[in-house]
Amino acid sequence: MIKEEKIIVFDDVIVIPSLSPVEPSQVDLRTMVTGNIELYVPLVSSPMDTVTEHQMAVKLAKLGGIGVIHRNMSIDDQLHQVILVKETDTTSLLEDIASRGNNINLHLSGSRCKLTIEDVELYNQDEMDEILSVCRLKSRYPIKPVTGKDGLLAVGAAVSPFDLRRIKKLDGVADILVVDVAHAHNVNVLNSLSKVSRDIESDLIVGNIGTREAVLDVIAKLDKVDGLRVGISSGSICSTGEVTGAAAPTLWAVIKAREALEELGLHGKVPIIADGGIRSPADIVKSLIAGASAVMVGRMIAGTRESPSQLISVGGGVYKQYRGMASPSSTRRRYAVDRYGGNVKKVSEGVEGLVPYSGSLASVVEHVVYSLQAGLGYAGAARIRDAWKARLGLLSESAKKEIKPHDLVT
Ligand code: XMP
Repeated sequence: MIKEEKIIVFDDVIVIPSLSPVEPSQVDLRTMVTGNIELYVPLVSSPMDTVTEHQMAVKLAKLGGIGVIHRNMSIDDQLHQVILVKETDTTSLLEDIASRGNNINLHLSGSRCKLTIEDVELYNQDEMDEILSVCRLKSRYPIKPVTGKDGLLAVGAAVSPFDLRRIKKLDGVADILVVDVAHAHNVNVLNSLSKVSRDIESDLIVGNIGTREAVLDVIAKLDKVDGLRVGISSGSICSTGEVTGAAAPTLWAVIKAREALEELGLHGKVPIIADGGIRSPADIVKSLIAGASAVMVGRMIAGTRESPSQLISVGGGVYKQYRGMASPSSTRRRYAVDRYGGNVKKVSEGVEGLVPYSGSLASVVEHVVYSLQAGLGYAGAARIRDAWKARLGLLSESAKKEIKPHDLVT
């Protein structure tokens, strides 16, 4: 049977401008990533072995987002990664910079950050970029480190719904357990989670899912759902759609999840995290307007200094490796195999490649913050909650061409 559904993706829509109540610099980007944890910036890092280990999680939490430690390692190693985040002090990056030595003078008055560096030679390019980004950000937007109820830096940990030992070990240590399967709308996944969800002490984010029915079933079946990870096969390294013919592209999945949560009176109470295919801040703005509270990103930050993969020099350019968790080289490290069905599925649903090295995470976050403030400003939203009331418009093919730079020789 064919039930025709129009599936829309990021490039099909545009933000319809609306009366803005504030200047972009006053737009507040605070958001809930779970019912309990508030972020200053709506960014969550993907639990992937080329994206999030403790360095990424520490830096992102200090920049106002949250990292999710991947699970392609032993339980003890993953626990250790979480503990490394928890053992890091909760000072802000600005205080960290100020404590680096006498040659940096930071003058903070109100929201202004004035910086003098006596010996620039002591710093490499990335460190300088980080220092400048953090200082500029401070003058524009009040980012603070994100902490959990233990008062320590907040961090998430990816878990398989079938790995009860891992869930037990990480529960109560990581602030959030993030269910990490490609298709959580599956009876075995839901049965397994329903046996443990009630007793889980950490917050629980469930995913990935991509339809209205999936949201209804997840909420009906589980005692505890603190957030939903939404989107199937939009990721830059995903080949699920190509290999299996199945997909729930992220923007469409967010719209469907929102519909279901609104039916249940839970939209805004159970946060939606848009996961996969976020290429730019514009995609984040569109996700938020569609109903998400935050986005999960892999590709956007895989090239930063903080990601765990090695720098690779190719033909004069500098890159970092980035790979899907279902790519052949990632599944050779056996721990993440069951994300894509383990022994049942014999096909590879992920690819791998290189991304250009992009320097410090702080410079990426700085760009995201300014762009989101500007985007929400156009949408007429002073806060993320207000963005849910803004409108997206469907673009015609000719409109898609017209709104991009055109008719220039570059
Ligand atoms: P981006 O576009 O930010 O997407 O790079 C990251 C998200 O992609 C998902 N992911 C995968 N999906 N095969 C897939 O179909 C894979 O091998 C794979 N690895 C990660 C995941 O949701 C991640 O957050």
